[in-house]
Amino acid sequence: MWEYTDKVNDHFKNPRNVGAVENPDGDGLAGSLACGDALRLTFKLDEEGRICEAKFQTFGCASAIASSSALTEMLIGKTIEEAEKITNRDIINYLGELPKQKVHCSVMGREALEAAIYNYRTGKTLDRKIDGDVICHCFGVTDKEIEKVAREKNLTTAQEIEEYTKAGSGCGQCVPEIESILQRIAEEKKKQADPAPMTQLQKIRLIEEVIDRQVRPILRRDGGDLELHDVDGNRVFVKFQGACVSCPVSSVTLKDVVETQLREAVSQEIVVEAV
Ligand code: FES
Repeated sequence: MWEYTDKVNDHFKNPRNVGAVENPDGDGLAGSLACGDALRLTFKLDEEGRICEAKFQTFGCASAIASSSALTEMLIGKTIEEAEKITNRDIINYLGELPKQKVHCSVMGREALEAAIYNYRTGKTLDRKIDGDVICHCFGVTDKEIEKVAREKNLTTAQEIEEYTKAGSGCGQCVPEIESILQRIAEEKKKQADPAPMTQLQKIRLIEEVIDRQVRPILRRDGGDLELHDVDGNRVFVKFQGACVSCPVSSVTLKDVVETQLREAVSQEIVVEAV
């Protein structure tokens, strides 16, 4: 039996705003029925652009119901800009606390909110494409999702990853792979914190590896690419290819994607330039 706060119990036993808003302005789905947890969130705006109605439908446990109910209460009265600032931690704080193993329920709330706001802004359904390789087949969690949450929330154990994503909480077969992802991240961080002197040749090899593993897959998704042209000290010269050549925001990609990834993995001193 999980230990729940009074507020979680209250929202579970007396959930607020259950159902679906008629003719909603925003409609979002998160989770998956295959995983046993799914949440649909719908909302409507008043003439002043504030959320006047928010409702949820969920297949999930007590925490999923309480998190969804809390989220709808938090949304009512907010503008879209205010609503999109709500994080899963805000949902947990609103409820007092959630057992660590149930944190993923609040994450599902945040994801449903993102999907509903996306739907409001575009009229489309947020298509969460599978990005990366599926590591946890029980819950459909990919290596990229694990890496993202580990970096963003500073998670270092498989147990913590399970709390945020559910990965590892089924058959457990994926746990060694989750641990090796975490180990790789820890080694990268250690290298950054205490960089052993690197020869220029080692640096070039690492730059090539990062471009291959982390940069190219992002660019290729949109038909672009780049090649390493030269390295002079910490100045890295790259040549865009494919769709990136004529892309009007390639200078942003250069800094926000290429330079950021290289700074994280190689050195904070790296400056990337296009040739
Ligand atoms: S594969 Fe991840 S829990 Fe089963």
